Amino acid sequence: MIKAVRGTRDLLPPDTALWNFVERKVREVFARYNYQEIRTPVFESTELFARGVGEETDIVSKEMFTWEDKARAASEKTQTLTLRPENTAGVVRAYIEHELGRSGLLQKLYYIGPQFRRERPQKGRYRQFYQIGAEVIGPQSAGSELPIRDAEVLDMLTALLNAVGLKGWTLFLNSVGCPNCRPSYNQALREALEGIKDQMCGDCQRRAETNPLRVLDCKAPADQPFIEKLPKIADYLDEPCRKHFAEVRAMLDALEVPYEVNERMVRGLDYYTRTTFEFTHGELGSQSAVLGGGRYDGLSEQLGGPKAPGIGFAIGEDRLVLALQAQQTEALAPLKAFVIPLGAGMNRHALKLAKELRAAGVAVDVSDESFRLKKSFETAEKLGATYAILVGENEVQASAFAVKNLKSGEQTTVAGEELQEYLKR
Ligand code: HAM
Repeated sequence: MIKAVRGTRDLLPPDTALWNFVERKVREVFARYNYQEIRTPVFESTELFARGVGEETDIVSKEMFTWEDKARAASEKTQTLTLRPENTAGVVRAYIEHELGRSGLLQKLYYIGPQFRRERPQKGRYRQFYQIGAEVIGPQSAGSELPIRDAEVLDMLTALLNAVGLKGWTLFLNSVGCPNCRPSYNQALREALEGIKDQMCGDCQRRAETNPLRVLDCKAPADQPFIEKLPKIADYLDEPCRKHFAEVRAMLDALEVPYEVNERMVRGLDYYTRTTFEFTHGELGSQSAVLGGGRYDGLSEQLGGPKAPGIGFAIGEDRLVLALQAQQTEALAPLKAFVIPLGAGMNRHALKLAKELRAAGVAVDVSDESFRLKKSFETAEKLGATYAILVGENEVQASAFAVKNLKSGEQTTVAGEELQEYLKR
């Protein structure tokens, strides 16, 4: 038997109803906050992620699906391609390539789609997973760097999570500084690591030299006591970063968005500057981050583009759905009615009735005139339909249908023209 590849999975009904519900709700909220959709390719040049996300990150150094793409014509060169491990680099590449900053306006872009990382699969962690993300990016003159953008993004995130009904999340917030203050923090980290790094894992030993901030991402249990004692970034922020962070927090307080400052949270991607954040959820066990994001004021320039500060986030849709399933009780979009044709020649009348009901927005399914009534009722129950509607010779002539409530067992006769109203009640 050929099975789905390790770390990938099929999303099947009824779960897909919840995925669709989530996507519908977030699209509604994005529209209210004036975001528009962007769709970028699923694979890009490897270099985009190496330069954007950073060579020393776990993502780039260990987790990318990369291949040499052979030339297919004499005019083509071989190129190194990668399945996107995240979507921010792709969005910023598109921003640069299509000169989206030319309008002088902020670009508020969202995306929903699969991402790929070669991580060790476990609950909430897959090699193909789905992100719902958004980026606010634009020229400085459009206000892209201002703290109000950060507060607005976080406000929208709480609205998104409310709209899908997620309860019990925690927002962790931090500032990771900027290219002006980061060097002094890196220097402090290097000095602190000097005496202890030999007792730490191989990754930490290397990163202590190449990119000491990434030492804070280390998951090795033995290294945690060392990491706990390292200097904190909050003590190294320069005055503009400190002020920016204070303004973001003041706006969140005014909006009554609850958060906790977590000075250890530096996020596993190199492009972040200033505000970073994660929302976690208790139902998710070790993979507790439902979403993460932050500011990336230098990313566009790093990719060869114009200055274009930005901030964004990505929700792990797999994890959001898992968390919702853990708390969800009521079924989503259940089948309203099962239309049962009774005897030869009744299929066309049943289909006609089903067509009218569907056009009126009622979810219905249809049996077949060759099935015994008992079998049709059993199918209706299995499908979770609320009502069964019987369509026989007499019903068609009288244009009044026997409607049985399958939950209560009650049966009544409803006139054809009142049926929609009756079912929608
Ligand atoms: P990230 O923290 O790497 O950030 O991923 C965001 C979210 O994607 C995580 O919080 C998690 O919910 C989900 N996720 C990540 N890896 C997996 C996996 N293997 N399986 C299931 N879910 C996963 C980014 O990707 C940034 N691009 C976010 C961003 C946008 N920052 C600024 N703009």
